[in-house]
Amino acid sequence: MKHVFSDQASINAAFDDEKELLIVDEDLVIEESPVRRLKDMRNLFVDPTGFDDETALYYMYNGIYKPQHKAFFKDQKIRYEFTVLLDKPINGECIKAHGHIHGINPIRKARHVEAYEILYGKGYFELFTYVGKELHVVMIEVKQGDYLMIPPDYYHLSINTGDVPFIFGDLIIEGAGSEYGYLKEKMGAPLFAMRDESGHIDFKFNQHYSDSELFVSFVSADTVPWDVPLAKVPLYAHFISNPERFEILK
Ligand SMILES: [Fe+2]
Repeated sequence: MKHVFSDQASINAAFDDEKELLIVDEDLVIEESPVRRLKDMRNLFVDPTGFDDETALYYMYNGIYKPQHKAFFKDQKIRYEFTVLLDKPINGECIKAHGHIHGINPIRKARHVEAYEILYGKGYFELFTYVGKELHVVMIEVKQGDYLMIPPDYYHLSINTGDVPFIFGDLIIEGAGSEYGYLKEKMGAPLFAMRDESGHIDFKFNQHYSDSELFVSFVSADTVPWDVPLAKVPLYAHFISNPERFEILK
């Protein structure tokens, strides 16, 4: 089946889930398109038994632009990206991204922020940070049409809790220096999302975080506990027309 998200993205795009292929206009530039496979994050799943190392989990499409916007993106030093998380759980655990934290922005002396838009499907963005010895987890339930900002100092990952591909776009500075080590060390994020046969989602705590006092909040994209200075306009079109609105990314 082809999952079309052209209107939401302001770029002609669809994902064919049988061929696991992104369909875009012939002249659209996608600088790199890596695939994350189970072998890259086997230790981050509750139980990957019985799944082949080569099982694809998600597809990334980085450095996307229309040919006429090449100079603009190179000048801005910002990348536009798509991610497609597949929807077949791994022994009941929803497919998720690896998760990371960004490097430090040398000008702001804070970690880089990232802007997201949900293009298709539904899921969660799991964010967490330490406040002293307390572990604060923010579970943001998101759906098509939501916009998100990842604040500095938050580890973050996406989780597909639906039964179709979960597709989102993002804008981030080139060379954001993402760090993956802590998630590897802890064998995943603090909460795992488990889906039963009827599609009901339960969250399971990752015992590798039991040395911290845990605070979890469940919010929507509209009730996150920080400012989201993004208009509800497709990121690509908005960035092209109003780059000054995205100064926060630099
Ligand atoms: Fe990120």
